[in-house]
Amino acid sequence: MVDLEKIKEKFLAALLVLTKEAEVLNLKSEYVGKNGVVSEILKSLKDMNADERKAFGPKANELKDFIQDQSTMRLASIEVLEINKKLAEDRIDVSLTEQIQVKTIKHGGFHPRTLIQQEIEDIFLSMGFDVLDGPHIEDEFHNFEALNIPSDHPARDMQDTFWFHDPHDTEAKDKIGKKRLLRSHTSTIQVRGMLGRKPPFRFIAPGIVFRSERTDASHEMVFTQLEGMMIGKDISVANLIYFMKTILKEIFKKDVEVRLRPGYFPFVEPGFELDIRCLICEGKGCSVCKQIGWVELLPCGMVHPNVLKAGGIDPEVFNGFAFGLGLDRLVMMKYGIDDIRHLQSGDLRFNSQFKLF
Ligand code: DAH
Repeated sequence: MVDLEKIKEKFLAALLVLTKEAEVLNLKSEYVGKNGVVSEILKSLKDMNADERKAFGPKANELKDFIQDQSTMRLASIEVLEINKKLAEDRIDVSLTEQIQVKTIKHGGFHPRTLIQQEIEDIFLSMGFDVLDGPHIEDEFHNFEALNIPSDHPARDMQDTFWFHDPHDTEAKDKIGKKRLLRSHTSTIQVRGMLGRKPPFRFIAPGIVFRSERTDASHEMVFTQLEGMMIGKDISVANLIYFMKTILKEIFKKDVEVRLRPGYFPFVEPGFELDIRCLICEGKGCSVCKQIGWVELLPCGMVHPNVLKAGGIDPEVFNGFAFGLGLDRLVMMKYGIDDIRHLQSGDLRFNSQFKLF
């Protein structure tokens, strides 16, 4: 008669040291598999007499159940061990990641020009102006002709323009007004804004402009202007001055000293230069104001009748004013920036000094 207790002990001793699922499955089949030790014993029951079977059968069956249960439990505990091991290896230290982020990710800020532009747009919107946009790549017509600057006009030389030359277009020279260029001022939007609008109306148009010129503390090849136009009946220079003074007071939050000089621009008559007392040096003279103590900020004037005509407006009935605010200079005055080139530098140390999101 086989000793079931011994088999049980042997099985348990073997099972205890196993750590892998496959090993447990193997051991289990050695005992209760098709030809396993216990299975063979159960098969031999049929050769025993009735008494032997009665005494031995239930015990052998018990051992079979015991081995199966023990194997199942061992498999379960191995699975738990495996999961714990994986968790320990893959542990993510969330707090550490956070520390890294704080160190390396810098928060952005609005460019000072964007801040000023948004502020000015709000001021003009509150005074009933629309805010318009226009293309950077323009044609000669909108940049010059419509603004009373025909091709033989000496004023074309006032602005060094970037032209597009299409080598395949041999007739480009004959296509007056069609030649492409990078707009040299936002005044291009004057005609675009007038066409399709019925007076009275008023709008502003901020945007970048391009000029082929040498850069210095107050000149850049790409800079920003804000064009403005107000058309209606019986508009006077007094209205123009009122709007200009109001806007400057709103922006600088204080009365700034201004002076009005005659200025020549083909698209206005009379034309003016509105200067403000340099806020960088307070009028003493510096590189920004070219040692004069005054900064040209707001050229303006009463819209020329030819420009009104180009915009489809009868100059006998309507008139108005226009202005071209130098947005970058305004930003420099407001924040005390002494070189226009900082604005285009893309240097985060510069940009992050201004108001954060
Ligand atoms: N477009 C001119 C420039 O860039 C500026 C200007 C002058 C705009 C007088 C105007 C104006 O609207 O009335 O030099």
